[in-house]
Formats: sequence, C-alpha cells, structure tokens
Amino acid sequence: MNLKDHLDARILVAMHAAGISDAPAVVKPSSRTGFGHYQANGMMGAAKSLKTNPRALAEKVTAVLCNDEDFNLEIAGPGFINITLSDTFLSNKLSEVRGSPRLGVEEHATRKFVIDYSAPNLAKEMHIGHLRPTTIGDAAVRILEFLGQDVIRANHVGDWGAQFGSLLAYMEQIATDEEALGAELKDLERFYQSASALFREDEAFATKARGYVVKLQSGDERCMALWRRFINESVTHCQAVYDKLNITLTPADIMAESAYNDDLPVVVKELHQNGLLVTSDGAKCVFLDEFKGKDGKPLPAIIQKSDGGYPYMASDLAAVRYRAQLLETDEALYFVGAPQQLHLRQVFAVATAAGYIGVQQKFRHLPFGSIMKSDGTPFKTRDGAAVKLASVLDEAIDRAYKIVSDKNPDLAEEDKRNVARVVGIGAVKYAELSKNRITDYIFSWDTMLSFEGNTAPYLQYAYTRIRSIFRREKIDTETLSGDLSLTEDAERLLAVKLLQFSEILDNVIEDYQANILCNYLFELAGMFMSFYESCPVLKAQPELKASRLLLVDLTARTLHQGLDLLGIETVEQM
Ligand code: ARG
Repeated sequence: MNLKDHLDARILVAMHAAGISDAPAVVKPSSRTGFGHYQANGMMGAAKSLKTNPRALAEKVTAVLCNDEDFNLEIAGPGFINITLSDTFLSNKLSEVRGSPRLGVEEHATRKFVIDYSAPNLAKEMHIGHLRPTTIGDAAVRILEFLGQDVIRANHVGDWGAQFGSLLAYMEQIATDEEALGAELKDLERFYQSASALFREDEAFATKARGYVVKLQSGDERCMALWRRFINESVTHCQAVYDKLNITLTPADIMAESAYNDDLPVVVKELHQNGLLVTSDGAKCVFLDEFKGKDGKPLPAIIQKSDGGYPYMASDLAAVRYRAQLLETDEALYFVGAPQQLHLRQVFAVATAAGYIGVQQKFRHLPFGSIMKSDGTPFKTRDGAAVKLASVLDEAIDRAYKIVSDKNPDLAEEDKRNVARVVGIGAVKYAELSKNRITDYIFSWDTMLSFEGNTAPYLQYAYTRIRSIFRREKIDTETLSGDLSLTEDAERLLAVKLLQFSEILDNVIEDYQANILCNYLFELAGMFMSFYESCPVLKAQPELKASRLLLVDLTARTLHQGLDLLGIETVEQM
C-alpha cells in the first residue's frame, strides 16, 4: 500500500473508533511547509452528514491516535487534520524501501491491459507526430508492467487501404531494376511522395494505382508480394526508430490493420444480426442517438462503403472485438491523437452496442495534443512536409554531442558518443513526457537540452553527481549498512519524498499523465540538492555518515528507477 493509502486507512480506522462510520478519511498530501505533508479532510463531509461540527469530530479522531508513534496529528482550520510523520516511522519505512529491489512499490492485483500505441501508417516514414503516442504509450507500458500488470503491446499499424495502390504501382514501375528499387525504398518518405505525385499528375498511373487497390484486396499474388516487400521495409524502418528511441516495441507487437481483414465481413454480419446495421446511400452504417452532426442530423458510423470497401472504422471495430472477446482484456488503452476522439468514441459506442465490450471491460482513449514550433505553428519542414522522426533523433544526438564535448572535453570519445546518445534521446523523450499529455507543446532544442530546469539532462546529470559521491570515495553501495536516523529537516523532507515514489506511480496511472512522475523526479533531485548543501555527508561523524549515505543511495536508486519507467537511460559519468 502506498504511503497516502496507508495513512488514509489508519485515519479511517480511527474515525470508526471515534464513532464516525460511512465517511471517507480523504487523506491528501498537503502543500503546507514543513514535513509531514499530509492532511485528512474527511471530517468536513462527515460533519455535514452527521449535522455536527467538523472540529469536534477531528478532536475525537486525534484523541484516538494521540499516543501513536507513527505520527503526530494536529487540528487545523475548520476541522482538517494535519499529519506529521514521526522520525521513527520515516526511518522504519525507509529501511523497508531500501531492502526492496522494487523500492517498496507493491505489485497490484494483476489485470490484463491492451495498450494501443505508436501505430504509424506504414505507407510513410515515421514523423515527429509519432513521438507522442510512442513515448507516452511506452512509459505507460513500463509503469503498468512494473506494477505487476499483464500488458499486451498492440501496435495497430496502418498497412492497408487505398494509399497502397500508388505505392504498389510505383514499385511495379521500377521493379525491373532491382538495384534502383532497393535504393528508392531506403527513403520511404520520398518514395511515397514520388508515388503520390505520379498519382496526381499522371492519369494512366492513377488508373493503374486504383486497379492495384482492387487487386490487393482480392489477394492477387504479385500484388501481395510487392505489398509484403514494402511492408517489411517499412517495419524495419520503424524498428530502427524504436531501437534508437529505447522503445520496448518489437515486430512481434505489430497487429496491423490488415490482420483483421478476415474479420471484417464477420463484424458486418454480427452488426446486422444485432439489428444495428442500416443501409444509407448504399453504405452500411450504424446510427446511434448519441452521435449527431453539427446540423443536428444523426451521424453514421460507416462500417462498409457503397463500393464494398471497409473504412478505418471497420478494422477498429474488429480490433475491439478481438481485444475484448479473444484476448479477454480487462482494459484497453488507446494512446491516439486528439483529432481521433470522435472516431474512437464511435468505435467504443458501436462495439458496446454490439455486445463486444463486456460491462466489466474498460476501453479508454487517452488523447494528446500536437507538437508546435516556437511560433505556435504545426511542426513541418519549410516545404510543408512532415519532419522525419529519424532525423529529429539524429539531430538530438548531434546537439547533445556538442554540449557534452564542451562540458567534459576529457571524456573518452566512445563515452562522449554514448553520453550524447543517452542525453539527446532522453531530452527528446522527457520533453514529451514532462508536459501535460492533453495540451499542445512547443518543441525547443534549447529548452529540452538544457542542464537546468525540469529536463532529462538535469536529472541525468543529478544522477551522475550522486553516483560520483560513491565513486570518489570508492564505496560499494552493496556494503552500505547501519540505521537511518533523521536529524535535520532537509533529511526529513527528502525522506518523505523518497517514500512517495509508490504513491506517485499510482497517481500517474489514474489518467496516464507521465508528467506527474517527471515533476516528482525533478522535485526529488531538488530536495536532494538542498539536503546535500545543508547536511554534510562524507564529513559527518561515522554513524551519521552511514545514515546519510543510505539516503544518498536511495535517492540515486529512485531517480534511476523513475527514469527507467519513463524509458530514459542514465550513465554513471558525463
Ligand atoms: N494508424 C493510425 C494513424 O496513423 C493510428 C491508429 C491508432 N489506433 C487505432 N486503433 N485506431 O492515424
């Protein structure tokens, strides 16, 4: 149980003992200065329903716990209870955390999660827009797995549809020259652009491309072979980006749109059997009362177009059906951009109406905003094209290399390169994760690569500084022992912060806001710095030194674990 829940449970028991039942304790971390940092606010609500004075209730509760060694309670304002954790409680809890490889974070009761994230369209190269779903989704995966959940990564890549017609026609055109084809495929974005330019400008090519779509859909062998080749090339490209970005996705996590092709007619049949399907202008649609267009007219969810083709909606319904019925997932989380909000609401609503999603099953869309340039316009190249993700990552590493070389010219070349990679990639990811998921954010190299402020380089550097304490003194952290004693306020603040790690992870997964964890790590590093400034460690007398080294080590471990859960690497020296 995390610290907050632990205190909540303790206060609740005291409330019962004081004759207050059926009211929650509502313990929250409080921002008041000093240490303790928790407050119980439940007396307010309880007093209302009991028609009495909240202060009187608070007095009864504090009387029950007045001799408790774990904390000191104090009534504040109209009837809040301020909770100050005792030094004994803090050091006992810290010892527990220290002895646990999981830093005291308990595993939750296991539930099954399908995490739909990254999901690029394979017709193009991954672009900067994919940074958000990929990074945020992967952090969610890592945190849920750390909390003991059964996680299925679902990379719902777009590998089907009309856009492949021109790609295949273009491939066919150059397929006679194997070398040229191989070379062209190296740059998927250009390949795509050349093909679509031809589609726009050359009527004969366009006709051929349309024919290829039909052929592909009917399973024509030659077309399928070309398509497979293109998809393989594209998947290899994505995997290279994932590897560079330290994303846990592998090709085995791909469950592409085309994987549901055989299920599409089944979905249509089942929707029909359920009486949900209506033919409108030749298309098969589902109309639900809750969806109305701007004009107030019912908004259809189109399941099959009049030409027999299946739109995005259909493969998404098949995917829900698969995830809910076959995988029997407890929850499915969709990390998909905000513009697809209506689409996913329709998908979930139709799937619920069709009985695909059971009452206990939770399907959630976790939208996110866009990445903007400093002038507030969408992030595009000068000619309006999408910025390739691979180039962004290379630039990040190059920029970090310059900074690292300036900061530490004596570092061996190989180390410099490694630090540059870790810092550059970390900076880009952290810039994503440290913002509220829902809002747009401005992409700024200078901000994200700064060694000051709430950035990856700041935290990575803080980590190396902490680790250097042990390195300089040649102390093996495995051999640290002794009791923890807290004598200074800076130590107590750091202690409470360290104990909050588990609570923070629980907060993150309420709404998958990784910025909660980022803020926590940033504050932890800051509290460590104040502790280190005001409390001598190496120069302290032996017992105090031993105790403080334990705090130092626990801080390093917490930073390391926290960054790892965000998918951000650390180094020992930079
Ligand atoms: N491939 C889609 C796109 O690029 C995103 C897919 C998201 N997942 C889903 N189940 N619809 O827009």
